[in-house]
Amino acid sequence: MSKVEEKLAKSLTAETTELIPYLPYLLQDLWELGSSPRDMLELIRKHIHVSAETKILDLACGKGAVSVNLAKELGCMVRGIDLIPEFIDFARKKAIEYGVEALCEFIVGDINEAVNAERDYDLVVLGAVGVVLGTPEETIRKLKQTIKPEGYILIDDAYGKKGVGDGYCSREEWLLILEKMKVRLIAEKIVEEDELIDLNREQQGLIRKRANELMKKYPEKANLFGDYIRSQQAECDLLENDVIGVTMLIQKMK
Ligand SMILES: C[S@@+](CC[C@H](N)C(=O)[O-])C[C@H]1O[C@@H](n2cnc3c(N)ncnc32)[C@H](O)[C@@H]1O
Repeated sequence: MSKVEEKLAKSLTAETTELIPYLPYLLQDLWELGSSPRDMLELIRKHIHVSAETKILDLACGKGAVSVNLAKELGCMVRGIDLIPEFIDFARKKAIEYGVEALCEFIVGDINEAVNAERDYDLVVLGAVGVVLGTPEETIRKLKQTIKPEGYILIDDAYGKKGVGDGYCSREEWLLILEKMKVRLIAEKIVEEDELIDLNREQQGLIRKRANELMKKYPEKANLFGDYIRSQQAECDLLENDVIGVTMLIQKMK
């Protein structure tokens, strides 16, 4: 299995690439797959001057929840890229449903390639930090290539707390990385705990229902789907207890 597929599985909390063909079925009832379009919108509205000429790149856009909401609320152009064709189909349908199909373009592709081709955006959004584009330093370096001088980066990640939340940088570590990469933290929005718990419960219920359906249909793969429910639950527990979910608005310095 390729590294791209391994990271793809990991970005959706699957422990094995064997689960990839089943992810569109398991996640069919969800639109948002991680980032909060509301938090992103709030940060943009407060800190960025947006016009009809503003160009946004949404990397690993999933089913387009962020792209479609930004296009609808801000009236700007958004290009979303994701590796899963069924997610891109869903995003295109949502753009039509929200009346923003003329503002949104959704493409099936690998964002590791897109960061070498896409240029001159005002804002780049990434909702899969720490997995797909490498270390936080590598990720920031690759995202910087896609934006104009003084352009913006919106990433959704989590701050590790001291001694727990292994694999997540603490806020202090993030600040050092950003300084080294010559970008500036403009603002951050910490995830509201109550909202997070409610969303996790709701999404877990929807995923569990679909996993049970798959277990009945493919009893020989029951462990695969059971493991997915467990890894999803472990991720929810980690987000609720061990780390602090955050959306960061970062600006490239000249
Ligand atoms: C946690 S989801 C976030 C989706 C979306 N940003 C959202 O918040 O709703 C991570 C996404 O990364 C995508 N992904 C993982 N590896 C990728 C790659 N190499 N190229 C493009 N998309 C990728 C997955 O298909 C998945 O949709």
